[in-house]
Amino acid sequence: MMLPSRTALFSLFILSLLTGILPSTAVPDTGGTTTIGFTYSPAVDNSPPPEHVVTALQSLNIPAVRLLNPSPTLIRAFSYSNISLLLTVPNYLVGAFAANRSAATLWVYNNVLPFHPRARISLISVGSDVISSTGGPGVSDPTTALVPAMQNLHHALIDLGIRTVSVSTTFSFINVITTAFPPSSAEFQEPVNSFVIRPVLEFLEETNSSLLMNVYPYNVYRLHGEIPISFALFQEGPFNFRDDVVTGVRYHNLFDMMVDAVIAAMAVSGYESVPLILTETGWPSNDEHMNAEESQIYAEKYLQGLISHLKSGLGTPLRKEGAAQAYIYQLFDDGPESNSKKNNLTSDGGETVHQYWGVMYHNLTMKYNIKFDNAHQISTMLGLLVPSIYFLWLLYHFFFCLFGLD
Ligand SMILES: *[C@@H]1O[C@H](CO)[C@@H](O)[C@H](O)[C@H]1NC(C)=O
Ligand SMILES: *[C@@H]1O[C@H](CO)[C@@H](O)[C@H](O)[C@H]1NC(C)=O
Ligand SMILES: *[C@@H]1O[C@H](CO)[C@@H](O)[C@H](O)[C@H]1NC(C)=O
Ligand SMILES: *[C@@H]1O[C@H](CO)[C@@H](O)[C@H](O)[C@H]1NC(C)=O
Ligand SMILES: *[C@@H]1O[C@H](CO)[C@@H](O)[C@H](O)[C@H]1NC(C)=O
Repeated sequence: MMLPSRTALFSLFILSLLTGILPSTAVPDTGGTTTIGFTYSPAVDNSPPPEHVVTALQSLNIPAVRLLNPSPTLIRAFSYSNISLLLTVPNYLVGAFAANRSAATLWVYNNVLPFHPRARISLISVGSDVISSTGGPGVSDPTTALVPAMQNLHHALIDLGIRTVSVSTTFSFINVITTAFPPSSAEFQEPVNSFVIRPVLEFLEETNSSLLMNVYPYNVYRLHGEIPISFALFQEGPFNFRDDVVTGVRYHNLFDMMVDAVIAAMAVSGYESVPLILTETGWPSNDEHMNAEESQIYAEKYLQGLISHLKSGLGTPLRKEGAAQAYIYQLFDDGPESNSKKNNLTSDGGETVHQYWGVMYHNLTMKYNIKFDNAHQISTMLGLLVPSIYFLWLLYHFFFCLFGLD
């Protein structure tokens, strides 16, 4: 009887090693990582023409853009760019979409049909944070209109032969989730859960769509003085963690806690397998609680920490594949005259300092020094693989010497 040769055994070792390591580190590279994009709403005055913005995004290899208040001109600018688009139907149209499918059809005629598929429209959000908006003309309660509006848009797309565009709506963490501490005890707030969120989740599951959620660790950090800034900014440190005593899971950043709170709330509602897309996250460059230089550094730390974390493919403790997509809010600063409700979100109340969330200047250079590439991830993988192979090689020699097979 022939003993298997040393080389063959060694190859087997290496093979088992590779199959043991690759699924956990290499697979996220090919689909497990979160697609990172930007929210883009052409600002009022001197913002650059959309064509120039698209070219800049392409040169940065940005794969996805979320358009707030999309216009046909804006959507057309993304033709042939291969940048995936998430369009947002303005809140004032939700009532009309719900009342009459032809309103939805008309919108598709103007905003989708002329550009599909040259512009890669992948998802349409019917409204944004509709439950905290006051609704449109003649709409008494926009929340009851939400699901019928989504259904009408979904059917309008199918009637026009467009099957690759999903339909959803956008919620805000701070308006719908009860708590992030600990994540496992989070639920969707009542009565919004029963009236709106559960019917929306049912629609999303039926149509293979995704839950869209705005998630701002910045706002939770501002509302909870006891949270260390390093925990909100993805900084590593010996005491920089929070334990969820219910699940025994250890969290190393606030972002993961908030995402897992959404995952837990979905599970409580019975829809734990619906994909999650983070429609907004970011950090303002002019936090009024600190000096200008400091806030700019914090914003840069948050964005770089976020991008590295999402590119690591580690997901979150409760969802290994993580969020499917995440959109950084936002590409350009809003003008001071814009009436964004983020301006009013302060714990101490009464403050109306205008916050700037943009990551790019109007001359199309980045405000921050942040990297989008995968270099970090690849070096991490090699850093794991090479020592492991060396270790096995040592182990192999040790055993063959021990049993005198050498
Ligand atoms: C377009 O983007 C998708 C994913 O974002 C990618 O898989 C595909 O290779 C890209 N196509 C081209 C022609 O670049
Ligand atoms: C729906 O809208 C279409 C076109 O705007 C209009 O002709 C029709 O009368 C409307 N139907 C209802 C029930 O309002
Ligand atoms: C949803 O996805 C599943 C599996 O990929 C597929 O079988 C089903 O037909 C899809 N449903 C719709 C409505 O697209
Ligand atoms: C934000 O505050 C300003 C000034 O107090 C107010 O006019 C505006 O309506 C507020 N916006 C929202 C969305 O609450
Ligand atoms: C772009 O604009 C910013 C802010 O106005 C300025 O600091 C920067 O130097 C400009 N960059 C170029 C290349 O013009």
